[in-house]
Amino acid sequence: KNIYYFEEIDSTNDYGKIVAQKPFEDGDIIIAESQNKGRGRFSREWVSPMRKGAYLSILLKPQISFEKITRLTIITALAVCSALEDHIQKKVEIKWPNDILINQKKICGILTEISGEVDKINYVVIGIGININLDIEDFDESLATKASSLKIETGKIQNRKEIVQKILSIFDEYYDDFLNDENYESIIDEYRKKSYLIGRNVEVRIYNNDSIRARVLDIEKNGALKVELENGEIRDLLSGEVTL
Ligand code: BTN
Repeated sequence: KNIYYFEEIDSTNDYGKIVAQKPFEDGDIIIAESQNKGRGRFSREWVSPMRKGAYLSILLKPQISFEKITRLTIITALAVCSALEDHIQKKVEIKWPNDILINQKKICGILTEISGEVDKINYVVIGIGININLDIEDFDESLATKASSLKIETGKIQNRKEIVQKILSIFDEYYDDFLNDENYESIIDEYRKKSYLIGRNVEVRIYNNDSIRARVLDIEKNGALKVELENGEIRDLLSGEVTL
């Protein structure tokens, strides 16, 4: 596997897409000390100050069908959650589909991007951004109430390298299982246990910008969020953004 390392880059996900234009290895990594165009989901910016966070992308070419992509998100979120929990000895939760929270604040986001057709995936880029040693001043006002960092939550500077190594080694194990179709039941069980949303009342913004109010019942085996709408209807949501 190859590791592409940068002091500064626009976005590790964007660089991943460039690398993917030529033959690459399953599991190549792009990692940077800072990003000047870090991107989040829903075209948001991802604040990526120099040497304060971890900004990396994992480039994959799994030969699987599209519907299994959700599982990749699940294993990535779980790998980050387990690695962080192990590292800081604090409760770390997953807010479906792939936000990682500590004390109800967002510490990490994951941006999965795919190129290909239904039965032929060219590549998948999984971008992981972790707020490790960011200070409260690094977040603008609108973020300060929702986002945080490991340093803020633990009161200590954390070792970025150790954290990234831990995440990648756990991810590798899960990814092997994923490719061999092994242990998925226990992985999804683990994800459920760490799920912040189960049992909560939420509002979900779905892709056409509609909002629906619902109560979260469970995480389905395929990674969908199982919700009960106000009229009693049960629905499985495959993607969307959830607010409480
Ligand atoms: C989100 O929660 O909205 C997803 C945030 C993903 C951020 C990471 S940082 C590394 C990679 N490169 C990017 O431009 N974005 C992802």
